[in-house]
Amino acid sequence: MSAYDEARRAADAVRARIGGVPEVAVVLGSGLGDFAGGLTEGISLAYRDLPHWPAPKVPGHEGRLVVGRRGGRVVAALAGRTHAYEGRGLRQVTFAVRAIGLLGVRTLILTSAAGGVNARFAEGALMVIDDHINLMGLNPLAGPNDDRFGPRFPDLTEVYSSRLRTIADQAGTAVKLPLAHGVYAAVLGPSYETPAEIRYLRTIGADAVGMSTVPEAIAARHMGLDVLGIACITNGAAGAASRPIDHAGVTETARRMRAPFSALLEGIIAGLG
Ligand code: HPA
Repeated sequence: MSAYDEARRAADAVRARIGGVPEVAVVLGSGLGDFAGGLTEGISLAYRDLPHWPAPKVPGHEGRLVVGRRGGRVVAALAGRTHAYEGRGLRQVTFAVRAIGLLGVRTLILTSAAGGVNARFAEGALMVIDDHINLMGLNPLAGPNDDRFGPRFPDLTEVYSSRLRTIADQAGTAVKLPLAHGVYAAVLGPSYETPAEIRYLRTIGADAVGMSTVPEAIAARHMGLDVLGIACITNGAAGAASRPIDHAGVTETARRMRAPFSALLEGIIAGLG
């Protein structure tokens, strides 16, 4: 079955369960999954119960879609994502975003944990993604193009909507959480970077580095969705940090940020036009 038909079937299954189209979807990164539990009148759908939907395998990543209310809107929260480093291919990595797009959601918020490349970023800083550099060596649109998703050669001049970035800044000011801005470099992982790689990333203009977000953002823009990306800087990048980087530390910092992060997300969702 084509990627399109699989995503279509999943979207139909979600629609049958929730009876409507959410106004916005939020993909929750490592340690940030709590937001899903804060939705009111929520309906929770386990990925494993949805057709073709890949279930994540990383500790700290749940696998459920929760549809409920927050910030005065109907929100689809995706707690758990598939990563390219799991070796499952970008068709799997982008599956959820495509299903959400086919469900009819037009606004997508991608959140993630990331390492700080910009030396000015403190641990726990939140960075609005202004642009990205794809260093995964992979692109979710490689292979035959399915025109039902979008064009063969999509433009990526504005992957991350400037309108949504402005809304994020306004929400950040309102909840007294100043937001950084910068360029997110996507790497395949799963090993963290070497100090030499971090110096390279700094040289080419990256401010943060992570192992997610970019394939999903590309697939979403291919479908014409408006995308906002927010990275939680969970650690100083290799060489800058005073201690080694590990997954437990990454999720711990993300967990520390979950309350302010949820407040920010709520403000952004309330502020959507
Ligand atoms: N590098 C890559 N991905 C990450 C990091 C990092 O330092 N921290 C959280 N995700």
